[in-house]
Amino acid sequence: MKLIFLGPPGAGKGTLAVKAVDLVKVPHISTGVIFRSAIAAQSPLGLKVKAIIDGGRLVDDETTIELVKERLVQTDAQKGYILDGFPRTIGQAEALAGFSAVDKVANFDIPDSGVLERLSGRQVCRKCGANYHIVFNKPVKEGVCNSCGGEVYVREDDREEAIRKRLEVYREQTAPLIEFYRKKGLLIDVDARPGVEEVVNNFKKALGL
Ligand code: AP5
Repeated sequence: MKLIFLGPPGAGKGTLAVKAVDLVKVPHISTGVIFRSAIAAQSPLGLKVKAIIDGGRLVDDETTIELVKERLVQTDAQKGYILDGFPRTIGQAEALAGFSAVDKVANFDIPDSGVLERLSGRQVCRKCGANYHIVFNKPVKEGVCNSCGGEVYVREDDREEAIRKRLEVYREQTAPLIEFYRKKGLLIDVDARPGVEEVVNNFKKALGL
């Protein structure tokens, strides 16, 4: 199954994707994770995108499309994928249609107040990328990842100013994809407001699982 997870920053796409992998048995491909790994490795890609991402803006379409195109030809993606955070512009969606036919687009529906609550409390493991939240999902030991023992930190783009910018960018450039995919008959709406287990159930129902 070829799935796209669409929604505002902090809607819970990455959190659900980790759970959905077990349900649909396809790899989770997050452009945000790929970019953050490149930044951590200080690779040429990482050096190019660091300031853009920290400021809450989008990486250019050409770079992002090429990255996804290269990832989707890998063996594990032949049976399908969950694309989390891509496409994010109409240009990216049109390019994707040229090299892969998606089955469904899950639209994570959540108001700005929910997004702000989730992003302003998010913490992430520097080593394995596991997600935490200072209220909803605290690590057992403060600052230490439950899974791998790595350092748990606050993402640069989860600072107030960058959150504001990401929401603005989402409204201008990504939200139009909702109608783009609805018109194609691919969109399924997922109520992303409740707790994680309920969102998993909403997703299963929306997908008919
Ligand atoms: P990316 O990493 O994709 O960021 P994002 O879309 O802003 O999404 P987030 O990772 O912030 O949120 P999420 O929806 O995954 O929520 P999460 O599960 O973490 O991209 C980062 C940057 O990379 C972009 O800004 C851009 O610069 C660049 N980029 C990436 N893709 C690009 C593209 N295609 N084109 C151009 N540039 C691109 O959850 C958030 C918090 O809430 C966590 O603390 C979690 O524990 C908690 N939580 C989650 N679900 C629930 C729940 N149901 N109840 C309570 N708490 C919850």
